[in-house]
Amino acid sequence: MPQTEHLILRELLAREGGWVSGAALARRLGLSRVGVWQRMERLRAAGFTLEARRARGYRLVRAPERLHPALVETLLRGRPRAFSLVILDEVDSTNDEVLRQLAAGRPTPFAVLARRQTQGRGRFGRSWHSASPANLYASFGFRPRIPPGRMPLFTLWMGVNLCELLANFVPEAPRLKWPNDLVYGSHKAGGMLTEARIDADQIRDLVFGVGLNVNAPSETWPTDLARRVISLSQVAGSRLDLNRLAAALIGRVLLAYAAFVEDRHREGFAERWHRYDLLRGRPVALLEGGRRHHGTVVGVDEEGALLLRDASARLHRFRAGEVTVEREP
Ligand code: BTN
Repeated sequence: MPQTEHLILRELLAREGGWVSGAALARRLGLSRVGVWQRMERLRAAGFTLEARRARGYRLVRAPERLHPALVETLLRGRPRAFSLVILDEVDSTNDEVLRQLAAGRPTPFAVLARRQTQGRGRFGRSWHSASPANLYASFGFRPRIPPGRMPLFTLWMGVNLCELLANFVPEAPRLKWPNDLVYGSHKAGGMLTEARIDADQIRDLVFGVGLNVNAPSETWPTDLARRVISLSQVAGSRLDLNRLAAALIGRVLLAYAAFVEDRHREGFAERWHRYDLLRGRPVALLEGGRRHHGTVVGVDEEGALLLRDASARLHRFRAGEVTVEREP
């Protein structure tokens, strides 16, 4: 969308449904009043509902509910100049698209969002149900050039940041189920999938993918999944503004990424993880490499590994695995 339309959109959004004078807009943007009117028509064609009155000007009645590139761009404040955004109607997997774009040399950082994924992926090659444009499917491309050993903490760090961000949109933030689930009790509200390509002992390409169940109520999911998921709108009791959430997510992920790469994430991480940790103090089973381990979760260490205390009080450390919470004895 051309720059003038972005500026008009910014003015309209800043008034939060209030009137913006056409004459004032024309002056500020160096356009004729007809020029302003033409841009408003283009915004209408792009899905914005606008009201126009002779004496008052224009006001934004409704922004599109679906993901809208220009709206997300306009809502993104203070983004790094180099950042670029792609919003697709449909893609196999936003993580795969980011991998392809990284391989093709696209400058980083960038994000790919899609309204639907046909082959959305989760951990362990599981599929991530991605049929609803009311939810968010987003992946970010980075080239961090840091040692691979630092990566396990990355997803946990991003998880803490996502919980803090979501606390601004829903009355209760989700909890983190190590290492990558955003949950409300036993219901999943989102998940993260971090993938990396390593080159000479450094991370060359890094993809951070997030799926968030935003506005599609769990009843609309296939029956086998419906009882295991929850949408943020169900937690909030009303629809969330998908475009505002997408813009806030992008802003937060970029900031969190910069802090991680510059090694500014360590201080305070343990307390922040603890605040959202679903598992601490709970008996769990951890499946790792075909073996099942039982114990009580003590927390995570500074490298992001899960610490379990077994029945004989021995401490075990796991870098990977799948956790299920067991019933309290
Ligand atoms: C998990 O819980 O196992 C992780 C799920 C991650 C899903 C997101 S949706 C956007 C991005 N693209 C994908 O194919 N997967 C991630």
